[in-house]
Amino acid sequence: KKVVLAYSGGLDTSAIVPWLKDNYNCEVVAFVANVGQGDDELAGVEEKAIASGASSCYVVDLRDQLMREVVYPTLKTGAVYEGQYLLGTSMARPVIARAQVELALKVGADALSHGCTGKGNDQVRFESAFAALAPQLKVIAPWREWEFSSRQSLLDYLVEKKIPTTSSATKIYSRDANLWHISHEGGELEDPWCEPSEQVWTWTKSPEQAPDHPAYIELSFVAGELQRINGQVLAPVDALSLLNDIGAEHGVGRIDIVENRLVGMKSRGCYETPGGTILLAALQGLEALVYDRTALNYREEIGLKFAQLVYDGRWFTPLKDALLAAATSLAQDLTGDVVLKLYKGRVTVAKRRSVNSLYSEAFATFEDDEVYNQQDAAGFIRLYSLASRIRAMHAADKTAQ
Ligand code: ARG
Ligand code: SIN
Repeated sequence: KKVVLAYSGGLDTSAIVPWLKDNYNCEVVAFVANVGQGDDELAGVEEKAIASGASSCYVVDLRDQLMREVVYPTLKTGAVYEGQYLLGTSMARPVIARAQVELALKVGADALSHGCTGKGNDQVRFESAFAALAPQLKVIAPWREWEFSSRQSLLDYLVEKKIPTTSSATKIYSRDANLWHISHEGGELEDPWCEPSEQVWTWTKSPEQAPDHPAYIELSFVAGELQRINGQVLAPVDALSLLNDIGAEHGVGRIDIVENRLVGMKSRGCYETPGGTILLAALQGLEALVYDRTALNYREEIGLKFAQLVYDGRWFTPLKDALLAAATSLAQDLTGDVVLKLYKGRVTVAKRRSVNSLYSEAFATFEDDEVYNQQDAAGFIRLYSLASRIRAMHAADKTAQ
């Protein structure tokens, strides 16, 4: 029997390798997704997997797929979960799960395994993707089966199995990083009456430490997709890294939230999404010029639905295709340039322009204009408020009787 395990090189998945072999009497193939978590995490990961007892280890670069197939499309929907979370972990899961399934089919595995706990969202995201893509494969979720209940018991198990560990038992936070974001949970964050200490944040400068002078950056979009930064054409992965660097320097993209997990509990998390925060602000700046009221309103509805769908692990569904088709259609007009100002944690739109702009100085001006007849407004308001007028007249009649 053969199992493909989504392996990270961390403590949990290092323990899962021998545990699977012991409990399922199987060969374990390690699958490592490179989603831009960084060289530190990826360094030596193959050797680590083999040292833990994996028969082989495959590292697959999914960064471009993540950007083109999930991040850019999701941006067009404006998806933001519960008003703040830019879905960094949620968006990576479908891409990782799909590549894991592809590897399992290639090596002829019978089962898939992951290191998600039984208390979180990630287990649902992975397994919903597995169900949609390869329902015939068995799923093994060790965290829902084994008796280990603490980091120390996992460490003891690794010592017993003579497997070297590099992660220390004193690791405080649970983090998940990719090129879009890093999440921090656990430690003192478990108490919502506790402000995150500066050691929580690993990526962005604190707004207090950020430069005293603002930075300006110009983003150019075609049909809702980023094409150029300061006039330079960049591939999605490179574009995001550049935005991440400048955003991180200016303390952009930190959030600290209490969120509702799909499994019912609330959890507290701190997230850093420097480049993503800039991108979203730019797109919204452009939308404001281009979308009329009904279009913008509908895009907001799509965004709300889409955020839930991505958060809830429903990427491989017909609903995703339908919502994305609508958002993509609206975004056809989102072509133009936005200049953003980054300053001490804030990103604001400084300038914007679009060939599809509906903004007309001729209409909006407080000076003399020739295009708008103010007398038209009187008739409009009479009809607009007709129902209110009728209701008020009825009420007056009733009191008269
Ligand atoms: N709460 C966030 C989400 O559900 C972040 C999860 C982080 N995952 C992790 N394995 N550390 O998307
Ligand atoms: C986990 O529990 O595995 C991480 C947190 C989450 O999935 O929500």
